[in-house]
Amino acid sequence: TQKIEAAIKHLKQGKLIIVADSLDREAEGDMVGLADYVSPENVNTMVTKARGLLCVPMSADVAQRLGLRSMVTDATDAYGTAFTISTDVRTTTTGISAYDRAATIAALAKPDSQFDDFYHPGHIFPLIAKDNGVLERDGHTEAAVDLAKLAGVQPVAYICEVLKKDGTMARRKDLKAYAEGTQTPLITIEELQQYRQLKAIEV
Ligand code: 5RP
Ligand code: CA
Ligand code: ZN
Repeated sequence: TQKIEAAIKHLKQGKLIIVADSLDREAEGDMVGLADYVSPENVNTMVTKARGLLCVPMSADVAQRLGLRSMVTDATDAYGTAFTISTDVRTTTTGISAYDRAATIAALAKPDSQFDDFYHPGHIFPLIAKDNGVLERDGHTEAAVDLAKLAGVQPVAYICEVLKKDGTMARRKDLKAYAEGTQTPLITIEELQQYRQLKAIEV
């Protein structure tokens, strides 16, 4: 309980945390930030220190309002990760700089943004979370959106898998070492599920 609440507090300060999924799922750790507080600095930390694919988990309502339809209709990947068509906000130029990606992430979280504010395809990959979050699907997509809802901000987050410098996946011990070395909270999706169950929290 304390661990999850400390992680949420950290996120509300605009900082990044790491969320690990189960060892019999992807066994990966994603850096996670809240889209409401995105900054080019945090995006740069993700792309240089985490090195995975930067994606933007969001609630189905937001994706629907923005006309972000599924990338494929016949997904065949292992975990059914809910990628939509990719996007950039129209105010960006290349779309890929940390500045442009932060602008797109911020726009995706703006309550009054709409379909016409964005280009397709682009350099940001939105993901659609299941409505009941980690109690419905044990992915990083749901964990990130649950954390945004628990933090009381827009249900939009940004995430990126952590890879090691040598290009292989960072596993639990590597994630722990990074987290300790950088004072980054590290939580698991299982802990978030337990927290929601224990507190009977609806999202
Ligand atoms: C997109 C991915 C990542 O695994 C990301 O964590 C979202 O997927 P999931 O919700 O399935 O964990 O594949 O980079
Ligand atoms: Ca994945
Ligand atoms: Zn994942």
